[in-house]
Amino acid sequence: MCGIIGTIGDRNIVPALIGGLRQLEYRGYDSAGVAAITQAHTLARVRTEGKIASLDEKVTAAKLEAPIGIGHTRWATHGAPVERNAHPHFSPDGRFAVVHNGIIENASEIKSMLLKGGVFASDTDTEVIAHLLQLYYTGDVVQAIRDTCRRLRGAWALAILCLDTPDTLYGAASGSPLLAAKGENGVYLASDAIAIREKAVGCRLHKGEICALDRDALRFFDAEGKPVFKELAPVSANENDTDKGAYAHHMLREIMQQPDAVGRTLSPLIEDGRVVIDDGVLSADFVKNGLREIKIVACGSAYHTGMTGAMLFERLSRVSARAEIASEFRYASPLIDEGTLAIFVSQSGETADTLAALRLAKERGAKILSIVNVPGSAIASESDCVIHTKAGREIAVATTKAYSAQLSVFYALAIRLASLKGEIDEETARRLAHELAALPDRIAETIEVSVAPAKALAEQIYARPDMFFIGRQLDFATATEGSLKMKEISYLNSQAYAAGELKHGTISLVEPGTPVIAVATDPAVAAKTQSNVCEVKARGAKSVAVVTRSLAPAFADADVVFTVPDTSPYFAGSLAVLPLQLLSYYTALKRGCDIDQPKNLAKSVTVE
Ligand code: AGP
Repeated sequence: MCGIIGTIGDRNIVPALIGGLRQLEYRGYDSAGVAAITQAHTLARVRTEGKIASLDEKVTAAKLEAPIGIGHTRWATHGAPVERNAHPHFSPDGRFAVVHNGIIENASEIKSMLLKGGVFASDTDTEVIAHLLQLYYTGDVVQAIRDTCRRLRGAWALAILCLDTPDTLYGAASGSPLLAAKGENGVYLASDAIAIREKAVGCRLHKGEICALDRDALRFFDAEGKPVFKELAPVSANENDTDKGAYAHHMLREIMQQPDAVGRTLSPLIEDGRVVIDDGVLSADFVKNGLREIKIVACGSAYHTGMTGAMLFERLSRVSARAEIASEFRYASPLIDEGTLAIFVSQSGETADTLAALRLAKERGAKILSIVNVPGSAIASESDCVIHTKAGREIAVATTKAYSAQLSVFYALAIRLASLKGEIDEETARRLAHELAALPDRIAETIEVSVAPAKALAEQIYARPDMFFIGRQLDFATATEGSLKMKEISYLNSQAYAAGELKHGTISLVEPGTPVIAVATDPAVAAKTQSNVCEVKARGAKSVAVVTRSLAPAFADADVVFTVPDTSPYFAGSLAVLPLQLLSYYTALKRGCDIDQPKNLAKSVTVE
């Protein structure tokens, strides 16, 4: 994982490096560093444990100034997040400095075979790259990079400085994102356009490519080191909206932005009271004559939206559908062919497991649709077709508005698919589209009424060591997301269970006062869930129910009840998740956790 940046400018580029790294912190924030070639022709380096704010302090104290430099913000894979493992890493002779995003899978093999053990200053996989550069360097940096990359297995995006060529910034990529760009004030290498804080033109490096950037020219090479021409296009950073406004945390602001995020996402998908999905995405011919099954592949919260999507596809359109965890999918010999519609869901569009699964599905002939929030991301660009969620930039590591936007896309897709399959008539399709169009207002209403009870409940449960989330069918998907949100930001041990499954073992963990949070929005299974609530209450649990208005009377005996507006049971997950997001937020707040940047996590997981 990690975020990398490199830049050459006319004046001191250190502020641009630090500013860019702040933007890249979503990719990891457990340690950071910069290296620069100074006017005095020395390779200087400043590194630190912790976030960019502490790097900034150290860089200021060191009075580092230089016209060319590279920087890194880290999410540790090999080696603890301590200063000596922070990037940049130097070659033993001090000629090369390297920052890396990705994983070098054969690092130990290189260390023992090629570098004969060597003397390493860190525990990272990255340091072998700096050693290899030294080994292969005979005066031509591009050739040394080419020969180095030939020895590597895994994924990398690299930014490299060489003391012998102080006006040139080098890059190389394979499997990790890297953008080379040129603006008024400088040239750049970056993991994401968001780190380039001026108008610029540029391009992504494709598998195996290398680049050498001077102040006036961007040069590109293929994996053989032969020059290649690459078209430069305007580099567009996703909405540069990084201000918390009046909110204490990005997460709270993003929770509040959900009505807009869902409204904007649905707006192009509903026209004249009907769901419209481009023919390129779902054509009547493919649905009637080609489509055999749907696989939805994603990670974390995006996978939870896939659970909902799969259930809706099966229920509404009677097409066989399964949600798959991306990191498992590619190793499971999945059955995929031309009759498979493979849907990949990702906020960042860069999640390594999801991207690898997409490539596998593509190879096997599936039709690839992705649901992505970041335009131009790797997953978006490698898909046959894309539906963009329009959640805007999501900064908090715990996703909220992107999750809701993804759900709304699944709702629209399920209605359209059911219509094309002839499983629902025009009137039902219109009624569902009408319910869908009302969702943003209902989301706003739910958030408004949930804040106070969520705060109050957080006060009661924040010190409990563990808790459970339960639900059936679609409500189970919502419970699973609620549980992930809770553990992710509050560090409490929380588990989600299909409500009927609790009694098959886990109920032995229920102690007097253990919070058990039941989601029940589907009238078809609510009575069953209500029985499960009684069972845990009988064992002393603190029972909490998240229910729709019309189901609330059945749950009157629960200790705490969150009531959400009535809507179609197909879409109620969009509402029920909101009190759960707020509950995790206020619980984490009460526990003094780092809500926007929880420990050990990163916003975008670009390693497998
Ligand atoms: C959820 O709050 C997460 N931080 C995480 O599970 C996330 O949903 C997952 O890593 C997938 O990310 P993506 O949507 O960017 O692919």
